Amino acid sequence: MHCNHCLFYVAGLFVAYAFDDISQKKVATQSHTPEGQNTEASNAVDRKTSTCMRTLPIGRNNPQKTVWWKVDLDGVYNIQSINILFKNYDGYEDRQRGRFAGFSLYVSNTGVIQGSRLCYKNGPHDHLPPLNFTAICPESGRYVIFYNERYAGSTYPTGSELENVFTELCEVIVKGCNNPSFYGSKCDIPCPTNCSDSTCHIQSGACFTCKPGWTGIHCNKTCTDGWYGVNCSQQCVGHCRDGVTCNQQTGQCDTGCDKGWTGVMCDKGILEGGKKD
Ligand SMILES: *[C@@H]1O[C@H](CO)[C@@H](O)[C@H](O)[C@H]1NC(C)=O
Ligand SMILES: *[C@@H]1O[C@H](CO)[C@@H](O)[C@H](O)[C@H]1NC(C)=O
Ligand SMILES: *[C@@H]1O[C@H](CO)[C@@H](O)[C@H](O)[C@H]1NC(C)=O
Ligand SMILES: *[C@@H]1O[C@H](CO)[C@@H](O)[C@H](O)[C@H]1NC(C)=O
Repeated sequence: MHCNHCLFYVAGLFVAYAFDDISQKKVATQSHTPEGQNTEASNAVDRKTSTCMRTLPIGRNNPQKTVWWKVDLDGVYNIQSINILFKNYDGYEDRQRGRFAGFSLYVSNTGVIQGSRLCYKNGPHDHLPPLNFTAICPESGRYVIFYNERYAGSTYPTGSELENVFTELCEVIVKGCNNPSFYGSKCDIPCPTNCSDSTCHIQSGACFTCKPGWTGIHCNKTCTDGWYGVNCSQQCVGHCRDGVTCNQQTGQCDTGCDKGWTGVMCDKGILEGGKKD
């Protein structure tokens, strides 16, 4: 009995201190802010649960159909989880959950949803989300984006509010490693050196993509001869001197071309008396 209690205590400490809060007081922006109230996007990263961001309502009959909020982590980081505290009002928990419903979370390097990674979506067949919601999201990125919408033709979870849907995020806590190129539960293991952006999966240390010329989960294998570039997906085209393979990062012939060929890639043939192309 005693021991069970001790173990829970230790486990709780481990979870609480495992990763760093990397969104606190970072720069946050949102799609629209009603005037005259204390509803700025920064309220979701001030670590005061009493202040919340708020946007104009979205709804099938409201002028606004979509809402977004995002935080700029100010650099590419390894992320572990995203916790959102959506505002609760005594006696209105179901309504608040119905407003939260249908939302998505993205991790992005550019700050725009297009081309970013979807981390979580409260889909049309899901339950209404709890107002204290956590998504595990082992991604790397610079921006975390919250998005929601209410379109007439779309389906949202049963119990969703469809009109006058206010979004009120009181806190968005992104957990990850403060040091951008480290991973592990103590954030003390360096990511493999040839991962692109020096970022990697926060638990496994696997690279998301490699720097050009490298491959494998840890990006410590060179491309096979004859291939180069990102993912080793480009084929060497040149006729390098003595038939050596091209530079695996650039595709160029570092030691010059075979007789009869020219250009940095050694892919231009020389005809006697003039160039072929
Ligand atoms: C939200 O839930 C997490 C884990 O379940 C808990 O640690 C945290 O204290 C909760 N936040 C609030 C503000 O209640
Ligand atoms: C990473 O790339 C550099 C430069 O290409 C290379 O010198 C180094 O050996 C590579 N590191 C690993 C672990 O493969
Ligand atoms: C790549 O790194 C992994 C993990 O450190 C190691 O087990 C493996 O032997 C390395 N492979 C090469 C080709 O260096
Ligand atoms: C490299 O591979 C990843 C994963 O398969 C893929 O998402 C990415 O588009 C590829 N990049 C290039 C330049 O081929």
